[in-house]
Amino acid sequence: MAKLGVNVDHIATVRQARMGIEPDPVHAAVLAELAGADGITVHLREDRRHIQDRDLKILRETIKTRLNLEMAATKEMVQIALNIKPDCCTIVPEKREELTTEGGLDVKTNSAFLAKCVNALQDANIKVSLFIDPDLDAVKKSHMLGVDAVEFNTARFSEAKTEKLEDEELVNIINAVKMGSKLNLEIIAGHGLNYINIQKIRSIKEIVEYNIGHSIVSRALYVGFERAVREMKSLIG
Ligand code: PXP
Repeated sequence: MAKLGVNVDHIATVRQARMGIEPDPVHAAVLAELAGADGITVHLREDRRHIQDRDLKILRETIKTRLNLEMAATKEMVQIALNIKPDCCTIVPEKREELTTEGGLDVKTNSAFLAKCVNALQDANIKVSLFIDPDLDAVKKSHMLGVDAVEFNTARFSEAKTEKLEDEELVNIINAVKMGSKLNLEIIAGHGLNYINIQKIRSIKEIVEYNIGHSIVSRALYVGFERAVREMKSLIG
């Protein structure tokens, strides 16, 4: 059975809208684990727009499953990872102006620095995964870097406007998954996956883990909003 890593970044996004203390991604992580999540994922961005250093520290101490830290390949982030020691680091590309991670990592440019980051993390017994597009060349380059896993960016699949485009992208993912699997890379997938499109992609048996955030946080609002309003209505009397 494939594993589910729950990304709690957007709990922190709501908190940061008021710069307050709630909702707390640490509380959300506890609930996610109680509901069966196999791991908790957070992206500590350079601009700290959602997850804060404090969240990462407390999550490291409190979560019972596995902590996956999404991070850019920078000296600052590698140092933070070496201090916190998450179970896994997923290296992602990061642009300040983007709304969310756009596209997979460019594993060709700057591969020497990337290799340094990968080695430093692995030397500290941290598993390393690269977030890449489902592209055969990117899979080969990732393998050459000696990483443990690759996470395929499913954005193009998730955002496909027609079933034909979705199926074409699924074929790209399948081909990349097969190659990654042959090269003994652990195969993860994520970005834009939701309660509908997961039903198609889950047929790819080599994918051992999915990282999902936005659709779970969105659904939580729908399934929990009514109760929250009822409780306030009843308090008002
Ligand atoms: N995997 C990676 C590498 C990501 O950057 C993100 C978004 O933070 C996700 C998975 C989760 O994507 P979503 O929030 O669309 O489910």
